[in-house]
Amino acid sequence: MSAFPLLFSPFSIGGLEIRNRIFSTGHQTLIQTGGLPNEGLAAYHEARARGGTGLIITEAMCVHESAYFNEAMIFGYRDEAQPGLRSITEAVHRHGGRVFGQLFHPGAEVLGSDPYGTRTITWAPSSLNHERYFGTTRELPDDLIVDIIEGYGLTAERMVEAGYDGVEIVASHGYLPAQFLSPMVNLRSDRWGGSRENRQRFLLEVARTVRARVPAGTVLGLRISLDEKDHIGLKPDEALAALAALEDEGLVDYMNIAYGSSASSGGARHIAPPMMIEAGYMKEAGATVKRAMKTPILLAGRFNQPQLAEAALASGAADMIGMTRAQIADPEMANKAREGRIDDIRACIACNQACIGHVSLGTPISCIQHPETGRELTYGTRVPAQKPLRVIVAGGGPAGMKAAAVAAERGHKVSLCEAAPRLGGQTLLAQQLPGRAEFGGIVTNLAREMELAGVEVRLSTPVTAELAAGEGADAVVVATGAQPFVPVVEGSEEGHVVTAWQVINREVNCGGSVVVADWRGDWVGVGIAQMLALEGRRVRFMTSAHCAGINLQPYVRDMIVAELMRLGVTITTYARLAGVDADTAYFEQTTSGEAILAEDTETVVLALGHRSEDSLKDALKAAGIATHVIGDALAPRTCEEAVLDGLKAGTVL
Ligand SMILES: Cc1cc2nc3c(=O)[nH]c(=O)nc-3n(C[C@H](O)[C@H](O)[C@H](O)COP(=O)(O)O)c2cc1C
Ligand code: SF4
Repeated sequence: MSAFPLLFSPFSIGGLEIRNRIFSTGHQTLIQTGGLPNEGLAAYHEARARGGTGLIITEAMCVHESAYFNEAMIFGYRDEAQPGLRSITEAVHRHGGRVFGQLFHPGAEVLGSDPYGTRTITWAPSSLNHERYFGTTRELPDDLIVDIIEGYGLTAERMVEAGYDGVEIVASHGYLPAQFLSPMVNLRSDRWGGSRENRQRFLLEVARTVRARVPAGTVLGLRISLDEKDHIGLKPDEALAALAALEDEGLVDYMNIAYGSSASSGGARHIAPPMMIEAGYMKEAGATVKRAMKTPILLAGRFNQPQLAEAALASGAADMIGMTRAQIADPEMANKAREGRIDDIRACIACNQACIGHVSLGTPISCIQHPETGRELTYGTRVPAQKPLRVIVAGGGPAGMKAAAVAAERGHKVSLCEAAPRLGGQTLLAQQLPGRAEFGGIVTNLAREMELAGVEVRLSTPVTAELAAGEGADAVVVATGAQPFVPVVEGSEEGHVVTAWQVINREVNCGGSVVVADWRGDWVGVGIAQMLALEGRRVRFMTSAHCAGINLQPYVRDMIVAELMRLGVTITTYARLAGVDADTAYFEQTTSGEAILAEDTETVVLALGHRSEDSLKDALKAAGIATHVIGDALAPRTCEEAVLDGLKAGTVL
């Protein structure tokens, strides 16, 4: 019997049988060519269908030309999209999965520029200033509203033609149908606004139109945020009233419950909740809707392990559980759970770095732990090595671990040697920053990948050319990482200047008043500031960038910056460290060169990046041993690039 009997029991929605209760929610992949679904997108979904998921809901697709969000959006009604959509549905069906398509109009939630960078007109029920995208929206005229509703119907029809089993109206996360529902956003006094009945009209008309246009037997669902968690968004009473109206008319076959809204930084974090938000936290939302409705309930948000999903089903919080990033991180998650191979699951750590982080950057999604994601056509299958080699990997951080696992999976004989007594490299530091403990999961997951692949691991063993030669190594992967960058700081002999690593390792006493000098704009600077402030110290955070945490995925950044503010940390931007003395840190304003003084400073903490530690490569070259330098040893970047380098090295060996 399965360890997860509920999760792996079949379920029927609108007469359509689904093999289990796991689904992948609609998520933007940006795997496309010119706004059209491509071969890569079909391969991406095929990997998850092969991996055992019951249902895949593909990404939000635009229903009307006024829904222009950016160039990468797929317009589901276009003829040119049909072949690509068909490839997706065929790929999912080939492996026994079901597939639904999302019907999307963002309304006010548009980035707001065309392919030339020129601002577009953004439409919404009423005129408003958008807090995140800085557009002033234009009130939708009646005829355009009617046309958009037709667009939902047409797009649904085209999706079914392409082989979709069902369609889902995206009324979640503050998008157009939710904008009509919200009394704070919809300020109209015509038939589309004012009373609750009028505010619900748009959504109900959309549902009726779609129902009328798709063949009988096509599943129609709705995604909605029970609570948009911001100052203007939907609250549970409005959301539940809309669901009741849909249920009364029997318009939808399922309700897919979320939290959050794209309209504000407070609401947006719930679109893809970062690790600071507790796993499984959506259970209560599901239970609330389940108590109120008879329609099947789908639920998603931070369910990263089958145990959590099973518990949510057992508590009656939902009928199916969305595990989206869980399957971005591990496309085989469902199969592994069904077979009871729990330890083999590469659990998502909710870092948001390469999935939604890439969407924020406008690039195709991937996963920091599994860079094969989004690169299925290139790295989807391991090609066995033509000739098994003896491979030594020097360094047990993420780059080395991934290289070792992949090389061993391909048939090489691999030993990984780590100079420290533990695997993990910089991850061991990163996981100690406040709210970042889950980051350490990457070490557990990669260690398991190595174990399954048969890598021999030697701890407290630095690699030398002699060791490699003695082992008869055909190749050495140099993944020896980096060390903190410590520039020459004028006056540092007088002042107390330490590195972020020393602070995390508790090697120094920072005193009561600390200045953090940040350059990289990543987790380290803001994390150290938070850590020291939590210890009750006065902290000033000075960054050379124009905002704190500039290189963090926005939801992650917003949460950490909010925490810094709550803790009373002062943030100064455009500030480059220039010097220190016994009690003052001196900064230059990066644009004007003017001095910024931080007086009464006891310690300056440097969060100024790293320099590669790659000295081993020269000794290996001198000994005539082939070397592959990867990760931070090649160029200090993030864990994402380290793991990708490891994948590439393991593949070419
Ligand atoms: C890369 C990415 C893109 C997303 N794009 C969409 C989208 O197109 N439509 C949507 O309804 N939700 C979107 N979301 C939200 C997800 O559907 C889902 O609610 C979220 O990932 C939380 O579930 P999880 O914790 O299982 O990943 C996106 C999430 C991610 C990570
Ligand atoms: S990048 Fe991070 S959040 Fe995204 S799927 Fe991978 S582990 Fe999860």
